[in-house]
Amino acid sequence: AQFDSRPKPLAGRKIIVTSGPTHEPIDPVRYLANRSSGKQGHSLAAALAKLGAEVHLVSGPVAIADPAGVATVHVETARQMQAAVESLLPADAAVFVAAVADWRTAGSAEEKIKKVAGEGPPALQMVENPDILAGVGHHAKRPYLVVGFAAETQDILKNAAAKLSKKGADFIVANDVSQDSGIGPGGVMGGDRNRVRIVSKSGVEEWPELSKEAVAARLAELIAERLKTTVV
Ligand code: CTP
Ligand code: CA
Repeated sequence: AQFDSRPKPLAGRKIIVTSGPTHEPIDPVRYLANRSSGKQGHSLAAALAKLGAEVHLVSGPVAIADPAGVATVHVETARQMQAAVESLLPADAAVFVAAVADWRTAGSAEEKIKKVAGEGPPALQMVENPDILAGVGHHAKRPYLVVGFAAETQDILKNAAAKLSKKGADFIVANDVSQDSGIGPGGVMGGDRNRVRIVSKSGVEEWPELSKEAVAARLAELIAERLKTTVV
């Protein structure tokens, strides 16, 4: 391999990244999930590794490859993702890009649920999943830097600001996933482009529409900048 002479501002830093959706089983053949390709989270993990970080990626089920130079743990459910993330603490930073299913069914059926003539569809009983980001944001071993994402379809800034304090994050990367976000082709979810705003206590920074790789590279630089002032 060619000698990589780029500066490594994140050398010696351990960073956890979550990516992809979670799958919550309904029965052995069905699940409940969010839309997420994992592209943004996986590119961020790769970008942080390029800056020298020891990156631990906790990924839900995705169709894309594990990023090079990153330690990847594969999980299915929100509860598995939470256990994997917490077992990786302590860390210098944690970035929560995953689209975690907010609910799971109260108990997954052991056998495939069958259609029964005349009975109609089954009523799914749901319970709330743990909030992985909020758990880490308020954890005794809280990383120095905790970053969340917020996919919104309306009131983006107001919702992102509320999540900032509720979850104990240092900043929230807010993106508009509504159909009329103007990002194409395919929109933000599943597509290759993203337009984000960085919401923190000190205000809002608007970034232009970029490829998900470019958003990842810029975010990695921002994280490196924020970690620069802390002692390794
Ligand atoms: N998140 C998490 N665990 C959950 C839900 C969300 O870690 N159970 C994280 C996401 O990875 C993201 C941030 O929290 O970084 C915001 O996720 P989002 O779905 O936008 O927020 P929620 O708090 O779930 O609120 P809602 O879906 O009602 O907007
Ligand atoms: Ca949610």
